[in-house]
Amino acid sequence: MNCDFIAPYYWWIERLGMGRALEKRRRWFLPEIGDARRALVLGDGDGRFLRELLRRNPVVLADYVDSSRRMLELARQKAGTERVNYEQANALTLDFPREAYDLIATHFFFDCFDPDDLEILIGRVADSAKAGAQWIVSEFRTPNIPARSLVCALYLFFGITTGLRTRKLTDHRPILRTHGFRLIKASHSRGALVVSELWER
Ligand SMILES: C[S@@+](CC[C@H](N)C(=O)[O-])C[C@H]1O[C@@H](n2cnc3c(N)ncnc32)[C@H](O)[C@@H]1O
Repeated sequence: MNCDFIAPYYWWIERLGMGRALEKRRRWFLPEIGDARRALVLGDGDGRFLRELLRRNPVVLADYVDSSRRMLELARQKAGTERVNYEQANALTLDFPREAYDLIATHFFFDCFDPDDLEILIGRVADSAKAGAQWIVSEFRTPNIPARSLVCALYLFFGITTGLRTRKLTDHRPILRTHGFRLIKASHSRGALVVSELWER
């Protein structure tokens, strides 16, 4: 997947397609993660969540990782360089520090991966989480036919515009549980089409 081409239009695409629903999901658990000191923000795209995290938590240090150079540039413009280490990398192969983070954030990122890769990703990232770490996830769900059709259309769109090969959502919940995380809270909108989850180890 290469998001360079769509990066400048990403905000507009999201707003036109989903209104404010995704933005609401990303921000939902921000009031609950105020104690974080070191955060891993994975596949954050244009950095809107990162900016908000830094604004609300004046002490947190963040590692931002995204494979898209243009997404990273946008994030840097939005969130600045103070307290953030930016890395353009493939999260599947990047070496994360062990037991380093007390917060991990993945918003609309798991949907980029097939089941095998998602297992690998979550396993590697889980090793970088401290005991007691929080993990916030925002993701799509397909509880009914309209939701399935919309997610199918999104995969088609991202397949054409970014080369994304994944065509189906993988349920990340059993994988997170396997790695010692438990779901603390969840909230959804648009008839459960989009959810936010707060996990803790
Ligand atoms: C669907 S976008 C989501 C962006 C943002 N998190 C949001 O909430 O809208 C997926 C993001 O993950 C990045 N990405 C996809 N695969 C990646 C990988 N293997 N490693 C790092 N970043 C990746 C893309 O460049 C893109 O910015």
